[in-house]
Amino acid sequence: MAIIDRIKEKAKSDVKHIVLPEGTEQRTLKAAVKIVEQGIAKLTLLGNVEAVKAAAGDLDLGGIDIIDPASSGKCAEYANVLYEVRKAKGMTPEAAAETVKDPMYYGIMMVKVGDADGLVSGAVHSTGDMLRPALQIIKAKPGMKTVSSCFLMESPNTQYGENGIMIFSDCAVIPVPKDAEELANIALGAADSARSLAGMEPRIAMLSFSTKGSAKHDVVTKVQEATALLHEMAPDLAVDGELQLDAAIVPSVGELKAPGSKVAGHANTLVFPSLEAGNIGYKLVQRLGNAEAYGPILQGIAKPCNDLSRGCSVDDIVATVAITAVQAQA
Ligand code: ACO
Repeated sequence: MAIIDRIKEKAKSDVKHIVLPEGTEQRTLKAAVKIVEQGIAKLTLLGNVEAVKAAAGDLDLGGIDIIDPASSGKCAEYANVLYEVRKAKGMTPEAAAETVKDPMYYGIMMVKVGDADGLVSGAVHSTGDMLRPALQIIKAKPGMKTVSSCFLMESPNTQYGENGIMIFSDCAVIPVPKDAEELANIALGAADSARSLAGMEPRIAMLSFSTKGSAKHDVVTKVQEATALLHEMAPDLAVDGELQLDAAIVPSVGELKAPGSKVAGHANTLVFPSLEAGNIGYKLVQRLGNAEAYGPILQGIAKPCNDLSRGCSVDDIVATVAITAVQAQA
């Protein structure tokens, strides 16, 4: 069974409540109907109720809640919580009361206070518009300093990863990890994603253009230090670095370049040294390698919130809601 079908089945086994702030958007509405029909999640759409119904046309929105943030009775409660969370950053009670009427912020507040289990947005909004309120209000989960992201990859080349399934991280959030600790935190987030989304025990390769000191540069040192930190932070985690991509996933190269490594040649979780490498890397595998790429999926965040590409299809939205629901189960 394809990984996304396994995720949908898992979502159905313990149904979670996901909020979709872009309630008048056509693909979102079509996806919402499919999601509820298939029992993947309970949904709330945000927007002016008449405008949502008009946009839906003949679509049957039965079983889907619609909330208008502009007139919701929850606004005062959400504004109080938002004010408390952001007052140190200059938020006033008046600004909080206005801000929660914005569907994106209203949706984030639903997740923050536990009125929804997760949020999916981005068919209309840019990545930054969705990420910034999520980072400012939901924040990193306890014990995790950094929110980052991953792609769940499914390659037709089943000799790699776990039958072709791999986690690639970070491909969407942190342009350049500022130090070894931030890179190590991305790897910890990726380990969580490997377990919760793919049901696999992570074998993490900390990627570089160098394997075990074959090249010397500041950016190589950062990967080496992050690997050493991970050994201290999570001694039971299977992680090795720095490794070149071929040493990470090809057994014969791994044996040659990193003899004795438990990860080299068998990695199922790839941690890239920068966003440029990760973002270009997943797109190469997706386009030239005909792999399925699901994401970006936020990891290390206290409650699941996920972004869509503005070019997303109805099926992409269904898949992202299923992934978000499974993250909420974890
Ligand atoms: N983890 C946790 N918190 C964070 C993180 C993080 N990675 N990044 C920012 N924050 C927090 C900050 O601490 C700050 O909190 P505060 O206001 O309480 O102090 C808040 O979020 C805002 O931080 P800023 O630095 O002001 O936010 P910035 O404007 O830099 O935006 C963003 C952060 C949007 C994530 C930025 O780093 C970014 O644009 N990243 C790249 C996104 C992107 O374009 N990706 C590629 C496209 S996606 C794709 O192709 C799949």
